[in-house]
Amino acid sequence: MVHRFVADGLRIDFGSRRFRRTAFSSGRLRTLVRGLLVGVALSGFAGSARPAHGLPPGALKEASAASGFPFGVAVDTDTTGARLALAASEFTSVTAENAMKWGTLSPSSGAYDFTAADAFVGWASAQGHRIRGHTLFWSRLNGMPGWLEAEVNASPDPQATLTQLMQAHASSVVGRYAGQIAQWDVVNEPLETLGPNLDPANFFFATLGESYLDIAFAAAHAADPNAQLFLNETVVEDFPQKLPGLVSLVQGLQSRGVPIHGVGLQGHFFFNPPDIEQLRADILALAALGVVVEFTEVDIRLPLFAGYADPLGAQAAAYQALTSLCVEIVACVGMTVWGVDDGDTWLDAFSLTAPDAPNQPLLFDAAQMQKPAYEAVVAGLQQVPATVPALSLAGSALALVALLVAGVRGMRNRQRAQRVRHRRVGTR
Ligand code: XIL
Repeated sequence: MVHRFVADGLRIDFGSRRFRRTAFSSGRLRTLVRGLLVGVALSGFAGSARPAHGLPPGALKEASAASGFPFGVAVDTDTTGARLALAASEFTSVTAENAMKWGTLSPSSGAYDFTAADAFVGWASAQGHRIRGHTLFWSRLNGMPGWLEAEVNASPDPQATLTQLMQAHASSVVGRYAGQIAQWDVVNEPLETLGPNLDPANFFFATLGESYLDIAFAAAHAADPNAQLFLNETVVEDFPQKLPGLVSLVQGLQSRGVPIHGVGLQGHFFFNPPDIEQLRADILALAALGVVVEFTEVDIRLPLFAGYADPLGAQAAAYQALTSLCVEIVACVGMTVWGVDDGDTWLDAFSLTAPDAPNQPLLFDAAQMQKPAYEAVVAGLQQVPATVPALSLAGSALALVALLVAGVRGMRNRQRAQRVRHRRVGTR
């Protein structure tokens, strides 16, 4: 089954596999029950039609909070004013776009400057947002401190030196925010860009071999045993041949007792719109390993829909399908867009995508007005199983009972998770 969205609205098969979801948060249950009631009045459900006018400000945050599904945004050090206000009022989770990368935190050897990172964490905590820590060990773009490679290679024992520096880095950074940051992207992009193998150009891998991941996760775990630790990978969405490599990498870590709890699929859709069925298979394959999954850095470029009658509508449909997919699968526990608005996207400066600028990949336009994608994500968060309205009355009653049982179980899980989070964050 190939489910692809098309221009001018949705054409997504909301097949019976939606019932794969087995547990619901209390918020999701509320949404479902509401959906059931509404559903009996409807002949079918294929995503809500776009209203003529935008949604009330804050609708996204409200939908995220009501569904218990964190919907986040990347915020940079130069995110201010109306843009920062939107990050506060429209989202429930936040990631530092650059402020927590090793290169940013430690511009010179042995020195750390936490000014921007502390300000970010202070701001995010004041909003009550969940915070994703991004990222400890990344050897591409601006992930690496300029001094690291030379210092390691000049030392008498590069392996021992890098190990010690990695451990000290994880301890300083994760330790500093222990209890405040719920999740860390511990290792970013370990695989080669287009293939399933560990990237030979990766400095950590080149120096330490695969054990660099073990060292990284163990050090992060030691610094905050309560943080959820992620491996974050790129373009698995476009190159599914990376998935087997990702799966065996995670399996290897698990078999060695390395504390890994999640896999982030970045979701930069550089080349193609999301292939929902492929992504479903990817998520389920990872979930089968017992890790959670998130879409951690989503942007869906408008030029991908250049040939469509309604590119903004098609982009919206893609966002809705992606959101629904994640909301629908229990193991998919959150989604983050990589920037607040189209005036603030890294894609317009990134070599691969800069020629297409403006890429307009986000939920708000450059004037910070809601785009159709914004409403689509809200609809995705409010998604209810399509099969429900089609059920007979008896079937509906049975489904309701099943959903209530699942919901109570989900509610308990959620309360347990909240207790843990409250203990960690110590707020709210
Ligand atoms: C990007 C930032 O958005 C840019 O501002 C920066 O110049 C380079 O890095 N994968 C990641 C992110 O994990 O950290 C990257 O962020 C985008 C690709």
